[in-house]
Amino acid sequence: MSGLSLPWSGPPFQPGTVWLVGAGPGDAGLLTLAALHALREADVILYDALVGADILQLARPDATLEPVGKRAGKPRPTQQAINDRLIERAREGLRVLRLKGGDPFTFGRGGEEALALADAGIPFRVVPGVTAGIGGLGLAGVPVTQRGMNSSVAFVTGHGSAGDVPGDLDWVALALGPQVLVFYMALRTIGTIAERLIAAGKPPMTPVAVASNASLPEQSVLITNLARAASDITRLNPGRPAIIAVGEVALIHNRLAAWQQVGPNGETLADGTGPTGPLRHLAPAL
Ligand SMILES: C[S@@+](CC[C@H](N)C(=O)[O-])C[C@H]1O[C@@H](n2cnc3c(N)ncnc32)[C@H](O)[C@@H]1O
Repeated sequence: MSGLSLPWSGPPFQPGTVWLVGAGPGDAGLLTLAALHALREADVILYDALVGADILQLARPDATLEPVGKRAGKPRPTQQAINDRLIERAREGLRVLRLKGGDPFTFGRGGEEALALADAGIPFRVVPGVTAGIGGLGLAGVPVTQRGMNSSVAFVTGHGSAGDVPGDLDWVALALGPQVLVFYMALRTIGTIAERLIAAGKPPMTPVAVASNASLPEQSVLITNLARAASDITRLNPGRPAIIAVGEVALIHNRLAAWQQVGPNGETLADGTGPTGPLRHLAPAL
């Protein structure tokens, strides 16, 4: 693969620089040409836990791979340690690829890394990626905006630094403001999120879509509503990672599922198949 030329010639990846690259939600087919170019040129790749083997195998065969995500039995390095490592490797004169799931600047701490590089005087480039909150939901048959349904959307993290829902969210503003709410990292906290949104005025029957492992063979979709989202998630146990959309757009999945192809042989969301294997198309709850 790395011997083939790309149908695009990107800027050279200069020694002593860092590229902050989004790898998309998981499937290698959702990498950008710029991300593939970076994978082929990098000397060293610092990658997160959500970046899979299919993507890493596109790296230059002699590149050094450094995992910096959460791994079984090992704590994730601190953000400071990752920032320091990026700077250290760039100062060694290497082409440093920082590869992150989704988009690097969307709940990916890419902004912190960019600031650290800028402060250290290290030249860097940003390569945006397909974020789970847009592309991942799209793969699950949930358009994040739909004319006539919503003219606004908010992206929210369901996981604050203390592990629970973030303390700085304005629940009334969220409940009554944006017509669609997209929650990252919220599978564990969805019960609290739902309670707070309902208490702040969001109707309990507001549709909810939970898209798990979007783009991967284990992809699954659960359509439920705010009042029962937490109990359905406990009962049906959709996989991680999962992205959660709250709003009318969640129901569009039901109309698209019979025709939206997700499998290699044209299998649709409704067939219960994923890109290369079974899709757990969990029981619709509405
Ligand atoms: C630390 S955030 C990183 C987000 C990433 N930077 C992005 O733009 O998608 C991790 C969260 O992203 C979401 N996520 C990432 N990949 C996903 C996937 N393939 N399917 C569903 N959700 C995903 C989940 O909410 C997960 O908890």
